[in-house]
Parts: sequence; C-alpha cells; structure tokens
Amino acid sequence: MTPQEIFGLIDAEMAQVETELQNQSGSDIALVRDIGRYVCNGGGKRVRPAILLLVARMCGYKGDAGPRLGAVVEMLHSATLVHDDIIDNSSTRRNQPSVNARWGSDISVLMGDWLYMTSFSIALAERQFRIIDILIEATRKMVEGELIQLEFNGRLDITEEQHMDISRRKTAFLFSACSQLGGVLGGVSAEDEERLRLFGLNIGLAFQLVDDLLDLTADERTLGKPVQSDLKEGKLTLPLIYVVQDDGGRRRELVQGVLKRRDADVSARAEIARLVKESGAYDRVMEKARDYARHAKGCIEGFPDGEARRALASIPDYITDRDR
Ligand code: IPE
Ligand code: IPE
Ligand code: MG
Ligand code: MG
Repeated sequence: MTPQEIFGLIDAEMAQVETELQNQSGSDIALVRDIGRYVCNGGGKRVRPAILLLVARMCGYKGDAGPRLGAVVEMLHSATLVHDDIIDNSSTRRNQPSVNARWGSDISVLMGDWLYMTSFSIALAERQFRIIDILIEATRKMVEGELIQLEFNGRLDITEEQHMDISRRKTAFLFSACSQLGGVLGGVSAEDEERLRLFGLNIGLAFQLVDDLLDLTADERTLGKPVQSDLKEGKLTLPLIYVVQDDGGRRRELVQGVLKRRDADVSARAEIARLVKESGAYDRVMEKARDYARHAKGCIEGFPDGEARRALASIPDYITDRDR
C-alpha cells in the first residue's frame, strides 16, 4: 500500500487526532496556546498515531479512545522533539524555525514539560493503568536514551551495540508503545501484545537507522530539519561508526576532526557524505534497517488478515524508503 492508501484507511480517525491536538493546545495562556498550536500545526508525518490506530483496528477495536490515544502519542513525540532540539542546538524542525530558535531555550524547556504533562493528562482520562504504564515506560526509556547519548557525546569509541541501545531507547520504545496501545485497546492476549511490542520496536529501530542515514545524505528542504548535524553535535551514528571501524587512517582523522572541532566546512561535509557511500557504510546500514523492517512484518503475520494488517505490513517499507 502507498502512504496515501495507508492514511486513507484512517482518514476520519486522523482528523479526530488533529481536533484533539487543537483542543488540547487551546490553553487560556496566550504563550502556551501559541507555542502549542505552532508545534501541533507544524506538520510532521504522524506515523506514530497511524500505527496505533491501525493496530487497534487490526485487533478489532471499534471505540473512540483510538484518536485520543493517537493525540497522546503525537503530543508526547512533539514534547521529545522540543527538548531534543534544545539539546541538539537545532534551529529548524519541519521546515520552520524550531521552538528554541523562535522562543529561546528557557521557554522551550517549560513548553516541552507542558506538552508531556498535557499528553499524560489526556491518557489519564481513559482510567486504565495499563495505558499509563506503557506510556511512562516509553517516556522513561526515551529520556534515558537521550542521557546515554549525551554521555557518549564527542566520543569516537562508541560501539555498534551501544549505539543501537541508544536508538532503542530514544526512538524504538515509543513506536513499540504505539503498537502495544493499539493491542491494549483491542483487548489482545499477553502473547499478542508482546508480538505487537516487537513489531513497533523493530519498526522504531529501522526508523532511527534511516533517520541517521538521512542526516548524512538528505536534502535539507525535503528533510525539513538541518542535515549533517549529528556529527557536528558530537554524535557518531552507525554509518560513521562503520566508516571509522576498519580504518585507522585518513577517514578516522577526518571524522574525528569534525567531531572535535564541531564544525564542518562544505568540503569536509561533502567528503564525509561521499565516504559514507563509498566505504559501503550506507549500504550496510540500509541493509540493517531492512532487516529490522522484515522482522517487524513477521511479528504481525499471525493477526487477522484485512486492510489494517496489510497497511501495517507496508509501513516498514515506507519507513526504509522514505526521504523525509
Ligand atoms: C523525528 O521523528 C525524531 C526521530 C525519532 C528520528 P519523525 O521523523 O517522525 O518526525 P516528524 O513528526 O515527522 O516531524
Ligand atoms: C531522535 O534523535 C530524538 C528523539 C527521539 C527525541 P535525533 O536527534 O536524531 O532526532 P532528529 O534528527 O533531531 O529529528
Ligand atoms: Mg535531534
Ligand atoms: Mg536525527
């Protein structure tokens, strides 16, 4: 299925997600409302609520908690982005100035907190501890991921395992929470919930690997956020771990130089992008992302066949083939 067909299936529910986001960001404090709306209306692919809604449908859920929880995970995701852009010193998000670029870091920290708490208060309205458990666990892992990443900042000796551990925490757990929540709404068995958790986790790992590749190779306008920023911010992602891995010489020096100085002139950037492709690192990481995507698809094979499952089964490909 194409992304248009996938989203077409959940058109009405996604519209409810947007309404919920609008309503929830409608604070009577002008600053909160302005930034809340700025964040919620700023675009974004909306992959997380889409997964939640499609899983809920695949599991036979018909009630109206789906769109509310869709808004919860999207708002939670937005909160992480607001904080992440402060940490990464990033000036653009979704092709517009990041919240920190526009309002400064102080306001952004508090606004990130506000978005977290608002998202939890929508979730609390369901009065289901299982839902809150899943959301808190995902959020805690996400913060741990960002913290561990900071510990490795500027280090060339990070291993593939350590990098994957960071990716699992900072990105994949939220995807697994979305998928699990869909299952919880559908009242699935513990085993099925575990399969859904793994479905989301594998999608999330593929998603972050591709995000790391896009940082190195994408075009800024298409991506909507700064490119080649990870290395400048001191993060050695998997493509670059591979580039320096089997090379004690020039490649390593070049990468280390950018990592240390935190700047990269145009020619160093172009060279690094070229090295990622020429060394085979790009293909290796892409292959790994495709493996996770394949794994994800396997996790939902046992669920009832239908449009929702077919849509979910095409999301991993959409994630690995995306350009934004
Ligand atoms: C960006 O997520 C953060 C990562 C986990 C890499 P998305 O790429 O889903 O961001 P939006 O919501 O589409 O802007
Ligand atoms: C994902 O990592 C951040 C979160 C999960 C909050 P990145 O730092 O790579 O995300 P982008 O590239 O800024 O969207
Ligand atoms: Mg970032
Ligand atoms: Mg990134």
